[in-house]
Parts: sequence; structure tokens; C-alpha cells
Amino acid sequence: MPRKPVRLGVCYYPEHWPETVWADDARRMVDLGLACVRIGEFAWSRIEPEPGKFNWGWLDRAIETLHAAGLELILCTPTATPPKWLVDSLPGMLAIDQNGRERRFGSRRHYCFSHTGYRDAAVRITRELGARYGHHPAIIAWQTDNEFGCHDTAYSYSASARDAFQAWLATRYGSVNALNEAWGNVFWSMEYRRFDEIDLPNLTVTEANPAHLLAFRRFSSDQVAAFNRAQAVELRQLSPGRDIVHNFMGFYTEFDHHDVSRDLDVATWDSYPLGFLEQFWFTEFEKARYQRQGHPDIAAFHHDLYRGCAGGRWWVMEQQPGPVNWAWHNPAPLAGMVRLWTLEALAHGAELVSYFRWRQFPAAQEQMHAGLLRPDSSEDVATDEVRTVIADLAALADIGTPQKSVALIFSYEADWVTSIQPQSAGYRALRCAFEMYSAARRLGLDIDVVSPLTDLHGYAAVLIPCLPILPEGFTKRLAAFDGQFLLGPRSASKTSELAIPDGLPPGDLRDIFPARVLRVDSLRWNTPLDGDGWQITRWFEHVETAAAAEFSLNDGRGAVFRHGRVRYLAGWPDGTLAAKVLSALCLDAGIMTLDLHEDVRIRRTDNHIFVFNYGPHALPLPEPLTGHILVGEPVMQPAGLTILKPGS
Ligand code: GAL
Repeated sequence: MPRKPVRLGVCYYPEHWPETVWADDARRMVDLGLACVRIGEFAWSRIEPEPGKFNWGWLDRAIETLHAAGLELILCTPTATPPKWLVDSLPGMLAIDQNGRERRFGSRRHYCFSHTGYRDAAVRITRELGARYGHHPAIIAWQTDNEFGCHDTAYSYSASARDAFQAWLATRYGSVNALNEAWGNVFWSMEYRRFDEIDLPNLTVTEANPAHLLAFRRFSSDQVAAFNRAQAVELRQLSPGRDIVHNFMGFYTEFDHHDVSRDLDVATWDSYPLGFLEQFWFTEFEKARYQRQGHPDIAAFHHDLYRGCAGGRWWVMEQQPGPVNWAWHNPAPLAGMVRLWTLEALAHGAELVSYFRWRQFPAAQEQMHAGLLRPDSSEDVATDEVRTVIADLAALADIGTPQKSVALIFSYEADWVTSIQPQSAGYRALRCAFEMYSAARRLGLDIDVVSPLTDLHGYAAVLIPCLPILPEGFTKRLAAFDGQFLLGPRSASKTSELAIPDGLPPGDLRDIFPARVLRVDSLRWNTPLDGDGWQITRWFEHVETAAAAEFSLNDGRGAVFRHGRVRYLAGWPDGTLAAKVLSALCLDAGIMTLDLHEDVRIRRTDNHIFVFNYGPHALPLPEPLTGHILVGEPVMQPAGLTILKPGS
């Protein structure tokens, strides 16, 4: 698919500002070089202030004003913020948290995905919007809702959720005996006589049955997909030819984004690298070192993940422009980072990068969150960086398409399995995927993060950091793949119902890696196992196999085994071992590797090499990259980047 021309955009809330400033705002957006504006995602109370009484006037005028200035629009359905009158008229529509408490009105996302009355109301407002604006020439895309699952809202423990879950179980298992058998309910006398006896898996005395928990996660994910689909179906009919998109989040896995994306044309995500660094598992050293840049792999990991969700098309819908308000600490980005983040997204294939938001709103929850403009309409720091991006883009005739080289398989279900049953504190498929991605990027590799259902044809190597449950036919597809691959610990360690497979792990994978995992040893963070200059952390498996050990612990036990084109990690590698194993695999696969400085990352398209400096110090371009410099210098300043045309 040829790449679409890249564009910059912004999120705008005309309802926050007097109409008298809209035309000037639109003019300033165009003057800045923005092409596209997202509006409407929280505007339900202004669109329909009373049940059934629509106030379209202001939205008509906002759309006309932006259109007249030459801007294209992404219009959103406002279903993340049902107004008070609607909540009051639909008893039971509020989500219920794990502790059985209602999630009340007064912020956003206060609805339960399983409440059919609310789903109907969401479809109704979608239909109203679609009917009114579906053919408007300014509208290029529709965003459904806003950030499904944000603020822990994918799971609801309401009566509607319980009823829907029971129906979902009946469909999946057919008979309650089959369910009892599949879940192992004979254990602790958990057997049921009827589906309507089965509660949601919260408020149990100790952990609920992991199979019950996994079923609830699968069900909840299906509910999100169904909610999204109900809107997408309406919009496709009422607004033909427009893209349907949703804005996903960072490090968020509580529904299957690959599934939801089946109903989308473009996967988009909201990129807040500094907030994510602060809120996730990074070390204190990393949090301090990268507090103004974000860890060098945070944004890129998600770019490469979301590129794989909706068939390749993806956007950044919200790009952090300055300090945010929602993390523990909210530092200002280093000067240059907004430019760097933008160009990095484009290097990874984004068609659009849209900044959040045009102007900082002085009241309510996000008053401390920066925008491109300050509340008094003066330009905030990022605005000039946007100008620089536009100048940078002018220096590249055609940015090129991201190179296809190495696939890294990530499964949302794997993250559910490991979250339900970590076995070693903090062990999560998501983190494993991120750490392996990071190690691979330090070697200069170009990665596609893909679902386990992706066709692997055309990749030179496949990395599978953590896949406890194999999808149907996966082993056959791997066996047919002619490149090198790396299997992480816990591979095929569970059946689809989260039980230990017949014949022990790695289950079906024994066809390509003949072995039995006899025991799992969970390692405390401060008691890793030592190899020659590297360590195994968190997890170690006692593996019985005839395959040769490529790397062994100092005590002689095998840590990485090799069998033909398969490598198997018997434990979680630290960065040094990961680099050694990946380098060996790349050598076998004929992929060139680099030894990048910890602060430097690169991304290749088919006609450019982008090099980024995430560190606090100036750094030279990595050896032996050569080419004609189109943007930047041979020495990259902090937050600097250089774009090369490959060649001598
Ligand atoms: C996103 C959300 C926006 C805004 C932003 C603040 O998660 O979609 O509406 O809240 O965060 O960083």
C-alpha cells in the first residue's frame, strides 16, 4: 500500500471557547501548518442539552469555520462522557468497580460496556451525528468514543455485566459441565449446576479460578469490541468513504486491540512519553535520566505496535506538547522533544500526528495540562517546534515506508494470562515484549510488533518473548516459517483454558523444540542467576532437552537452547544476554546489527535513516551509518535528530 502524505493536526474544543475566537484560532492553525483538527469527543452535553433536544447550531458553525479556513476534520462520537440527564435516566448504566462500588458521574468514562440501554443511547447519538455530518466535505474521519478503557474502565462488575457474562459463557462452553471441566472446578468444590449460578470473579475470598478470570477478561474485551462495532456500523452507513478510527493508549492491554481494530480503518494512539515513563515499571535511574525525553523506546514501541493493528495505517491522535497533569511528576519536555517525537512517529509510518491540544483550558481537571497555546492564547513552547517539523519535512521529498525486517509477536491475551498468574512479581508479557523490543532496538533493528495471527512471510526473524497460549495452528505456521526465531520462557505453557498442557510445557511447540519444562523457579529481583557477564532475572526454567545449550549459567545449567532455527530462552535475560542472543540470531538471519549508545535509536524507511538522540548529552552519529545528511548534523544535540539519505 503506498504511503499517504503525512500531515500534522491538533485536538480542539470549540465548546470551551467563545465563538468570537474560532475564526482566529482556525487561521492560526493553518498559518502554523496544521491540516487537520479533531473535535467533539466530550461535547454531548452541548450537543443534546436535554433528552432529544439537539443544539446543533454551535457545532454547525464550528465545523463551517474550521472548514472555511481549509482544515480537515476528525469528528468524534461523544460517548465517553454521557451527560448527567442520561445517567439519571438509565439506572444501572454506571460501571461498578472491582470492590462493588459505583463509578459515579463527575468526570468521564462512567459507563458500563455491558449496559444495553447505554449502548443503544451511544448508537443513537452516533446516528444523529452521522446523519447530520456524514457527507460534510470537511469530515475525513470519525473517532469512536475516546480511549476505551481509560481510568480502568474496561472491566465493570455490574448486574448487566454479570448477565451478559453468563450468556457469553453459555455460548462459549455450550454446557455447564463443559465449563466445569474446562476450568477444573472440581478443585475447591467450585462446580456449578447452571450458568446463572456463575458470578463475576471479584470479591472472592482469595484469588478466583484463573480460568474464570481469563474468561472474564475475554468477555470484557469482546464487550469493548462490540461497543465500538455498534458505532462503526452506523458510521460506515451514514458517512461512506471516511476513515473510522479510535484512539488507543500507551502500555494498556485490558482489551484486545487487534480485535477492536478489525472494525477500524486506522489505529490511532495517544502518545504521552513523559507521563508513561513516570507511571510504569522503569527504574529510578531511567526515570531521572529520561524525565524530559521519555525512555527512548516508549513512543517507538507503541508506534510499531499500532502499525500492526489495522493493516498498517496508524496515526498519533494526541501528542504530548508540554507538561501533562496526570502523572506523579509532570516535567516539561526538553527543548526539541516535541519535534523529535513528531518526526519519530512519521519515521515509523504515522500518516498524521495531532497535538493535544490547541489551547490549555484554565478550568476543570486538565487546567495544568499544556497545549500549543497557553490559556491567554500566547504561543507555548511546542508551537515553534511544530514550525521546525514543517521545515524538516520540506527537506524530505518523500519520507518513505518503514522497512520490514524483524517481527516481534505480542498478544493481549498473553498479557492477561501473565497478569492473572504472574508467578514472579511483576512478570508481564507486555513488559517482556517491551524489554526485548528495547534490546533489539539497541542493536539498530527495525521491528514490527504483530499479533500472533500475522502472516510471518517476508520477515527475516521472529521474536516471541511471551506467548503462553498458542492460537490454533500457530506451531504449524512457525514450522513453515523459514527464518530464525526466538521463543521466550513460558511459551505454550498453558492450554486455552489456562491449564498446564498434556506432556508439560512447551505443549505443542515440542514439534519444533523438543523439550519438557520440568520446573519453574521464580527469582526475586535481588537474586538473579549468573552467567558469564550476564544474568537471568525473574524466571528460570529447568528444561529437559537434547537441544544444545548456546548459553549456560556459571553452574552449568542451560539458559538458552538452540535447535535448528529455533532458540529457546529458559529464563528471562538481562539486557546483556538479550543482546548476545539477538546478535547471534541476527548473524544467522543475515541481519546487520549495530551497537548503539543507550540514548540513541534509529528507524529506517525504504529511503531514509532517522537517528534520534534521547540522551542528555551531544552524541555522534553511530558507526558505520553513512549517507547524505538531509536534516541535522553529524553530532546530535540532546533531543536532536539527524535524517540521512543512505549511500556513501
Ligand atoms: C488522554 C485523553 C485526553 C486528555 C489527555 C491528557 O488520555 O484522551 O482527553 O485527557 O489524555 O493527557
